Amino acid sequence: MARLVLHERNRPYMIKVGNEEVHLCACGLSNNKPYCDGSHKKTLDEGNDLFTYDENGRIKITSFYKKD
Ligand code: FES
Repeated sequence: MARLVLHERNRPYMIKVGNEEVHLCACGLSNNKPYCDGSHKKTLDEGNDLFTYDENGRIKITSFYKKD
């Protein structure tokens, strides 16, 4: 079953593990999940538009998700 998952956060969650800071991916684009690899930087100019991302870049979604 295909599913579409909407990730609205464009930065990682930072948690402390002992004395170490760990950054967890919340954008869904990391190639090293669950850790942030900096891929969220691609999303910083999204504004209120919606995009889908793949290995070729991104495509703007114009019809099937509606943001309130
Ligand atoms: S939050 Fe996803 S790569 Fe950084």
